Amino acid sequence: MNVKDLLETIRAHGQAHVLAFWDGLDEAERGRLLGQLAALDFGLLDRLTKDLLAPDAAASKPPVLEPAPLIELPKTEAERDRFAEARAAGEAALRAGRVGCFLVAGGQGTRLGFDGPKGAYVIGPVTRRTIFQLHAEKILALRRRYGAKLPWVVMTSTANDAATRAFFEARGFFGLDPASVRFIVQENMPAVDRRGKLLLETRSSLALSPNGHGGSIKALHESGACAWLAEQGVDTLFYFQVDNVLVKIADPVFLGFHLQAGAEMSSKAVRKRDWREKVGVLGRVDGRLGVIEYSDLPEDLAKAANPDGSLRFAAGNIAIHLLDVGFVERLNAGGFRLPFHKAEKAVPCVGPDGRPVQLKPGEKNGVKFETFVFDALPRAKASVTLEVAREADFAPVKNAEGEDSPATARAYLVAEAAAWLEAAGRRVPRQPGGMPDLCLELSPLTSFDGQGLAGLTLPELKPGLKLAL
Ligand code: UD1
Repeated sequence: MNVKDLLETIRAHGQAHVLAFWDGLDEAERGRLLGQLAALDFGLLDRLTKDLLAPDAAASKPPVLEPAPLIELPKTEAERDRFAEARAAGEAALRAGRVGCFLVAGGQGTRLGFDGPKGAYVIGPVTRRTIFQLHAEKILALRRRYGAKLPWVVMTSTANDAATRAFFEARGFFGLDPASVRFIVQENMPAVDRRGKLLLETRSSLALSPNGHGGSIKALHESGACAWLAEQGVDTLFYFQVDNVLVKIADPVFLGFHLQAGAEMSSKAVRKRDWREKVGVLGRVDGRLGVIEYSDLPEDLAKAANPDGSLRFAAGNIAIHLLDVGFVERLNAGGFRLPFHKAEKAVPCVGPDGRPVQLKPGEKNGVKFETFVFDALPRAKASVTLEVAREADFAPVKNAEGEDSPATARAYLVAEAAAWLEAAGRRVPRQPGGMPDLCLELSPLTSFDGQGLAGLTLPELKPGLKLAL
């Protein structure tokens, strides 16, 4: 599109205010702004404004929610046998090189208040191991155990792509072959005010933010990552979020259940701690499997209880999925798009005078549009939801303090290492409340699932000891 047509389009869509400072911009600034505007889908923006922001936009009617069919934690011998069979099937797929890993790390990590990609955050309770290193070492250890390529796709966003790549490079890709790691960048969406008018971050740039982790479905296809995986014989992708330090990457049990069911997209779930916990809920939403986000779950449904008092909607989404690569490609055929959700946020921007708008604490001046990967679930021909124990699979780093913070994540890492050492026959000192009375950090290269610890030579595990293995 030439510049004249573009300017015409901008005016026709009622967004001419973004050119308010045009006369004062130099060539480079004009070029940048035009580049951003040329990449926008104005038709989509109009639709979202109408569907999600207009005062008469249909208030979403409360969903009809039923609990999701769940493979529960095994209790009987027969169930344990079923799990062992699933594990064997998953391990066979790993050995056959059918599995790849997919990390979504394009988010802005606003709640943590850390300036940099979240994966660069130091989480090791003894060493200065970062979250990226933890994930990378798990992948390296899996590659060694199964003799598999296990290629790794990492999704970033324009805001953290350069910093993420530089981090991996500066650390020698944590021992992984750089050719086995592929970075892909998700698209941005513009932030708007409540009337759908584009917000300017500066006089010469739009306020843009990542399009949500649902953008991964499109990015996997458009970047060529799906084709890259398929060329290597990978048909199943293990999807995980950067913030979960306990994630059991490429868990063979999960893989086995998914593959045996011929599933296209599967999910792990933990039992919600209580009705308030900020996790989405896996369930049948209006008859189809899906996730209803915590912010959208009506309080009466969040609190609904079974006759025994347990939560009726207890399957907390921990954002661990398996994706069939062909399914991802199918979702993209014909330009399929996941639905957008709106999120009201504080968006740094300039006002009509070109100066930064001063926001009051807690003020939300803008709206961001995001897609969610779990909105692909209803499209899957078959799907498995596997219940897992929280302490085995889920310790996210979301907030600077309190729940789901670096402190809770480190405590889970120490607890896991302690439990594995005990299972391997070591005596671990514990505090009266049951917490380990020492600080342990286990490299996934030493053990990523508790195996291989029995033969280790260890110092005496005294209370207060700090030990990295
Ligand atoms: C998310 C899930 C919630 C789940 C919880 C488990 C959503 C909307 N909700 O909540 O159902 O219970 O995780 O921890 O996702 N990301 C991108 N690009 C983006 C946005 C996010 O890559 O545009 C990545 C982030 O880097 C992060 C992950 O997605 O790895 C989670 O994003 P976040 O916005 O923190 O989700 P939550 O609200 O914590």
